[in-house]
Amino acid sequence: MPEATAEQTNNKNGKPTFRRAPNVIAIASGKGGVGKTWFSITLSHALAKAGKKVLLFDGDLGLANVDVQLGLMPKRDLNDVIRGRLGLDKVIQEYEDGGFDIIAGRSGQASLSALPSQRLTLLRDQLLDVANEYDIVLIDLGAGVDRTVRMLSASAARTLLVTTDEPTSLTDAYAFIKLGSAAGLSKNVGVVVNQATNEKEGAKTYKTLLKACENFLRLKPPLVGMVRHDPKVKDTIRHQTPILTRSPNSDAAQDVQEIANLILHDLENRKKTAKSSV
Ligand SMILES: Nc1ncnc2c1ncn2[C@@H]1O[C@H](COP(=O)(O)OP(=O)(O)OP(=O)(O)O)[C@@H](O)[C@H]1O
Ligand SMILES: [Mg+2]
Repeated sequence: MPEATAEQTNNKNGKPTFRRAPNVIAIASGKGGVGKTWFSITLSHALAKAGKKVLLFDGDLGLANVDVQLGLMPKRDLNDVIRGRLGLDKVIQEYEDGGFDIIAGRSGQASLSALPSQRLTLLRDQLLDVANEYDIVLIDLGAGVDRTVRMLSASAARTLLVTTDEPTSLTDAYAFIKLGSAAGLSKNVGVVVNQATNEKEGAKTYKTLLKACENFLRLKPPLVGMVRHDPKVKDTIRHQTPILTRSPNSDAAQDVQEIANLILHDLENRKKTAKSSV
């Protein structure tokens, strides 16, 4: 696998450009509560089921909740890394039921969301080192486009921006793309419409966002996929069990599987291109 490093340089227009880890995918949203964490967990699970070695990094430094949705009680977490007590590789924990690894955050630690830049850079660099050991690394980001989000999503080959059809979610998704564009991040952003009433409504939601991006930003973020609204999601979160274990045939589970297949296909294509250009 190519060396995973992300360093910021400026291109000739003075805009920042980044070297990204080819196997890192960030999951973002403008507005909070749209389903990023649930989606990150389910996508990790689907990719692991397909035989990939997957790491899920809880990058929501202020409001970590991967462990909460899965009912885990991590003995070590990001706080140990940030305090300099442990290296990032030492806080990885196996999530046996899902067949993937997790780096847990620490809920309610406001200090983690206000990390000094240097610490954040160090964390990012450690994450990129760890990424070399995996086929795919997913980062569950905090909502919005603050410094932490920008830094972590800059290290990812692509960012999946999750939105629902709620007007506020759409407006905030647009703001994410706009602000991300100014920071040189939006080129690799794809859209995931979550909690869609049905396929037709999901397509409508995407089109609304696309139109705004085309008209005002001259950007065309592609649609990566849509996930239907499904009562099984709440049910599985309440039971702290992944949906692919408890309700694998539910609409939402199948929709995420489809997105996972797309990502796997994309990864294979990238590998082929990388091989043929050697
Ligand atoms: N496809 C879906 N169908 C039905 N409900 C969903 C779906 N996706 C997410 N939800 C609901 O949305 C809630 C929020 O999900 P989640 O915590 O994953 O969002 P989040 O974007 O990570 O939030 P935050 O920004 O606070 O981290 C879940 O508790 C779940 O009930
Ligand atoms: Mg979350």
